[in-house]
Amino acid sequence: MDRTIGILGAMAQEIDEVKALLTNKTVIKIANREFVVGKINGIACVVAFSKWGKVAATITAALLVQEFGVTDLFFIGTAGALADGLKVGDIVISKRLVQHDLDARPMISRFELPLLNRIYVNSDPGLTELAGKAVSNLLEKGVGHVVGEAAVKEFNLAPQLYFGDIASGDQFINSSEKRNEILSLLPDVMCVEMEGAAVAQVCLEFNVPFTVIRTISDTADHNARVDFGKFIVEVANAYSRAIVGEIMQLV
Ligand code: ADE
Repeated sequence: MDRTIGILGAMAQEIDEVKALLTNKTVIKIANREFVVGKINGIACVVAFSKWGKVAATITAALLVQEFGVTDLFFIGTAGALADGLKVGDIVISKRLVQHDLDARPMISRFELPLLNRIYVNSDPGLTELAGKAVSNLLEKGVGHVVGEAAVKEFNLAPQLYFGDIASGDQFINSSEKRNEILSLLPDVMCVEMEGAAVAQVCLEFNVPFTVIRTISDTADHNARVDFGKFIVEVANAYSRAIVGEIMQLV
């Protein structure tokens, strides 16, 4: 079966950079969303801005699957670091996704997905490995040529690649109390964002392989808001384009 690769991004500017990689583009609008259909390296792709938060990302992911028949889904974006040692500019690829704000106790246990009998959704091992190779290739070349040496200096970038659990919720986490609370309940979680676990649930129910790639933009504490905006403009957009470019060499 021919593959159609879905690429979703959490920030409009990030996904604009990815759209620039597409040839033979057609834009299709559904539900206030733009889906850009085209090819990268001759492979059919559909690229869309997920919009922010779990509900918005769920709508976009479900449309990608149902309307465009994507066979594989990559989600790319930024995240706040929870794990010790994670630094701004590092990249985390998902092993498992969890919704840190889901709580239907006492009917079921905390974080459990209703009627799905699980807390975590596993990302696809094959796509996760492929994304890992793509990011490693990028890191070997050095990110200086992607973001410019000035940004490398400004953000002290010495990026490392990690594989681990990612938590999603409908909150931008920017306090030590909140980040520590999540970490105390879900100690294996490496970073926090607002869409990945929702997209994972869509992919689980539609049986579509997926993985999530997140660049650390902040440390999810009181500095988060300040770091975040600057990082998106100066680093994350270029990272996304370069990572997707590397992925599409390997698909
Ligand atoms: N995305 C990037 N940083 C984040 C944070 N601190 N909280 C939630 N989502 C994020």
